[in-house]
Amino acid sequence: MIESRGNKVVLIGTGAVGSSYAFSMLNQGVCDELVLIDLNEQKSMGDVMDLNHGVLYAPTSTKISFGKYKDCFDAALVVICAGANQKPGETRLELVEKNMAIFKNIVGQVMDSGFDGIFLIATNPVDILTYATWKFSGLPKERVIGSGTILDTARFRYLLGENFGVAPHSVHASIIGEHGDTEVAVWSSANIAGIPLKDYLAKDEGEDQEEKMKEIAEQVRDAAYEIIEAKGSTYYGIAMGLTRISRAILQNQDVVLTVSALLEGEFSHNDVYIGVPAVINRQGVRDVVEIPLSEHEKELFDHSVHTIKKAQEPFWK
Ligand code: 2OP
Repeated sequence: MIESRGNKVVLIGTGAVGSSYAFSMLNQGVCDELVLIDLNEQKSMGDVMDLNHGVLYAPTSTKISFGKYKDCFDAALVVICAGANQKPGETRLELVEKNMAIFKNIVGQVMDSGFDGIFLIATNPVDILTYATWKFSGLPKERVIGSGTILDTARFRYLLGENFGVAPHSVHASIIGEHGDTEVAVWSSANIAGIPLKDYLAKDEGEDQEEKMKEIAEQVRDAAYEIIEAKGSTYYGIAMGLTRISRAILQNQDVVLTVSALLEGEFSHNDVYIGVPAVINRQGVRDVVEIPLSEHEKELFDHSVHTIKKAQEPFWK
């Protein structure tokens, strides 16, 4: 057996999201070793072959292989993309029953391997399943991370960038809260190159920019429904968001990303995993960043926390 070189990643679930993540990880050369696990072994074996045929054209020669749960024991990162996904019109919260049962089984098998690394969760409802992974695994909270609002923030920055004619990288804004219908756009601190968005808006006389901003937030919130309606599921955006989080972890980057992290007093809440800005490094979540919120944003965030708590309560009685 080849010994792990310290940044081995095991991916569980090679459906559309998982296999797009594998493709993205290979293309960006983020890890030395990537192991694919799926209930449908034939599918993941096929993915392994297919991905290996691209290694020649990737930036590094990532070793990609088909695996079993026992392969998790020396992984730095286990990424879970397995589970049922939304049908057109279905909400993320409606998946909770099915996916909770799947997660109990998966997380149990990963922990039985002797795994002692970091979990990154993408399956919906992601905040609730990240909390469940933390509970089922017994790992420290820092080492259980959900993709949270990483994708919503990307959608938000993309749409604002389009509107103002700058790249999303130059838009500083985030979506926090549930990765779902109660998510919150943080307008109060949104800025472009340090210029508050409201000053940008004031420049555009004649156009109803306030209305436009409202529409952008709605488009962000409803983007997944629109994509699912159009092509059945969403996968490229989330795969790239997961790759970004993986890189932050494996390369010890100390970057701030909006992920699902456990709150212990931050934003005056406890015992809930929810999308917040957090410093991510090799330890996982180093710190939750308590960005200032307007009174209205705080109210919306509180509502989002309560929505998650209410939906997960029955599982933890
Ligand atoms: C998304 O937001 C469905 O959670 C998935 O694209």
